[in-house]
Amino acid sequence: MQNLNKKVALITGGGGGIGGGIAQAFAEKGMQVVLADISLEHAQEQARALGDCAIAVQLDVTSLDSWTQARATAMEAFGQVDVLCNNAGVSQPRQPLDQITPEIFARVMAVNTAGVYNGVVTFAGDMRQRRSGHIVNTSSMNGLLAFGTFGAYSASKFAVTAMSEALRDELAPFNVGVSILFPGLTRSRMSLSDIESGDIPPEVAAQGLTEPLYLGRAVANAIEHNKLYIISHPAYKPILEKRFSDILAAHGKPAQVEFGGEDG
Ligand SMILES: NC(=O)c1ccc[n+]([C@@H]2O[C@H](COP(=O)([O-])OP(=O)(O)OC[C@H]3O[C@@H](n4cnc5c(N)ncnc54)[C@H](O)[C@@H]3O)[C@@H](O)[C@H]2O)c1
Repeated sequence: MQNLNKKVALITGGGGGIGGGIAQAFAEKGMQVVLADISLEHAQEQARALGDCAIAVQLDVTSLDSWTQARATAMEAFGQVDVLCNNAGVSQPRQPLDQITPEIFARVMAVNTAGVYNGVVTFAGDMRQRRSGHIVNTSSMNGLLAFGTFGAYSASKFAVTAMSEALRDELAPFNVGVSILFPGLTRSRMSLSDIESGDIPPEVAAQGLTEPLYLGRAVANAIEHNKLYIISHPAYKPILEKRFSDILAAHGKPAQVEFGGEDG
């Protein structure tokens, strides 16, 4: 089991609900945290609540230059970054894919998908060289299950799932772990504003909002035990089972018969 005491984490979207919950759970473990957010004000607010173990930095995850500066600030403050949480994300209005504007589609992909890639590009090399570290990427239940009117967001989060699984293979030989957080509905500015706008349907909102600190504790536990999947909302299991069994059921005869397959 990995001991997190005195380790240093950089959390993107650290000014937000889930990022704040992760930071709080890390502080409980005796870690030091860099809260990185496009909103410096929100990151500072979270850092103040945590006291001396936290600092706030401004970071736009879509910009590699901004990542370079945030890395330099973190290194100056704490010497190294042991844990990277690529958690910043944006939602989308509930609209059919063909009605999402190119600007919104590009923004969702830039923050949710390229933002994670940029974080990996900035920190994976250090971790590989040190032969230690852990990367946690925040996907979503929408990164395992897609449904109509949420296509751009789901696509961005499926990509996070895929990048994380690939990265896990790539970094395991260097003793660097990778975990994926798949939240369901959790209290945050994003979820509260989606509920208010009706983008989250009332029947889903009625299930209630998980408090971010509990997700944070699940993240800390996953790092300690090097677990790949962090499922905070097991209520989606039956829908996921149906999706997987539909995919497996489609495995019949190969399209070209001599290439094997179940009955091949
Ligand atoms: N809250 C939920 O129900 C829920 C469910 C599934 C997944 N998620 C995911 O959890 C993550 C955290 O979201 P949250 O729910 O805490 O929402 P939030 O809005 O409270 O936090 C997101 C944070 O990301 C920051 N951010 C946005 N664009 C950024 C950028 N370009 N660079 C740096 N920071 C940026 C925002 O300023 C905000 O502080 C997101 O990736 C989101 O997609 C949330």
